[in-house]
Amino acid sequence: MAASPQSIDDVAAGLRSVGYLPGESTALVSFLAAKLGKPILVEGPAGVGKTELARALSTYLGRGLVRLQCYEGLDEAKALYEWNYRKQLLRIQAEAEGAGWQEVQDDIFGEEFLLERPLMSAIAAEEPVVLLIDEIDKTDQEFEAMLLELLSDFQISIPELGRFEARTRPIVLLTSNNTRELTEALKRRCLYLWLDYPQLEHELAIVKLHTPDLDDAIARKLVEIIAMVRELDLKKPPSIAESIDWARALLLLGADDIDNEVFVQTMSVIVKHRTDLDVVAERVGVKLSEPVRAASAGQ
Ligand SMILES: Nc1ncnc2c1ncn2[C@@H]1O[C@H](COP(=O)(O)OP(=O)(O)O)[C@@H](O)[C@H]1O
Ligand SMILES: [Mg+2]
Repeated sequence: MAASPQSIDDVAAGLRSVGYLPGESTALVSFLAAKLGKPILVEGPAGVGKTELARALSTYLGRGLVRLQCYEGLDEAKALYEWNYRKQLLRIQAEAEGAGWQEVQDDIFGEEFLLERPLMSAIAAEEPVVLLIDEIDKTDQEFEAMLLELLSDFQISIPELGRFEARTRPIVLLTSNNTRELTEALKRRCLYLWLDYPQLEHELAIVKLHTPDLDDAIARKLVEIIAMVRELDLKKPPSIAESIDWARALLLLGADDIDNEVFVQTMSVIVKHRTDLDVVAERVGVKLSEPVRAASAGQ
């Protein structure tokens, strides 16, 4: 069933009901996007819930999810549409002897011989979908320009076929890990949502949602330690994804506390660079061997 949110609270409750705990601005921006029909550009470090937001919105709104995973060298043929050469060839072979080139051409450049790629599928869909353009920062600026055209006109021009107009308007989410600056033109067209590592209580709620069986005290200690680790100058600080993985690992191992020993045993779940491991072992591991941690008491 397709849902149509009437307020920011509606969106917040809707997202929660499908297992996504939105921050305030997430619910606000999602509501505006649904109402204004503008794309959302979601930026932030890896593992803070950018991709998951698109999934959650599609489930909550009862819309299909069309996903375009971006990568270096992604081109129109993989993103928009492509001619189905094999099928065209077969048709040419099957064509009666003596058919003129014009007839053949009219025949093989019809919609039947088109392979829809994600962007085209999203606007060709009979029912409106959520379109996720994931990690747009991995493509180049040319691709961005092409996308801009699509996002402003909601049509695709196919030289052999003419204009293809959107049947339905998708809700569009673009995500970026911020590895390169996106163009002003793209930003202008989008609503902007910056997702960062969450506040302690928010992350605690997310961890509990994903591992309801984990002891409360351990869950709290876990997010406190994660926050401490993020303070260090690391190559790759742990994200929500790592917090959840760590919680699952601790649950599996039946840990009843995170002391120094447990920490050293399991810290490779949250830090994944050789040099980071050394820093973390030294700075956090040592603190955990001290009898009482003052910082955890005050929260
Ligand atoms: N607000 C949230 N509520 C529930 N789960 C979340 C939330 N944010 C992140 N997660 C979880 O964290 C993990 C990483 O999220 P993901 O969307 O893959 O990160 P990103 O796309 O930003 O790299 C996923 O397992 C996701 O379910
Ligand atoms: Mg992602």
